[in-house]
Amino acid sequence: MAPAASIPPPILVLEGVIQTPDRETVRCMAREIVRVAASGDLPPGRMIYVDIDGLPVALANVDGTIYAFGDSCRHEGGSLSSGVLIDETVTCPWHGWTYNVRTGKAIVPPVGIRIPTYETRIDGDSIFVIVDWPD
Ligand code: FES
Repeated sequence: MAPAASIPPPILVLEGVIQTPDRETVRCMAREIVRVAASGDLPPGRMIYVDIDGLPVALANVDGTIYAFGDSCRHEGGSLSSGVLIDETVTCPWHGWTYNVRTGKAIVPPVGIRIPTYETRIDGDSIFVIVDWPD
């Protein structure tokens, strides 16, 4: 008997239409689980840039926990993966806006905005990012 596979398929797509109790129709988003890197590509304290079908995503390793977030700064689009990572805080290399990589919330300035964050999974030597694509 073959051993059970521990790594999920590279891409899992779930989408459809559901009916809520009040009969409102809601379209589900397409969800993809995408292998983006090997664990060895991202040592603690480092960030890397990955492109997921044109979606710019930054990965950060904070003490062994991998976070994924939008790579584009909300100010003028600076590449956050090229910035500075200190603990859970990334600082944009262009003008210094800062964000929490776990929550995506801007720290200073300005508060109240955020960058998108994405769920991650580690399986064996692989890093996966889960993306919910809007319809
Ligand atoms: S583009 Fe990031 S702070 Fe200006």
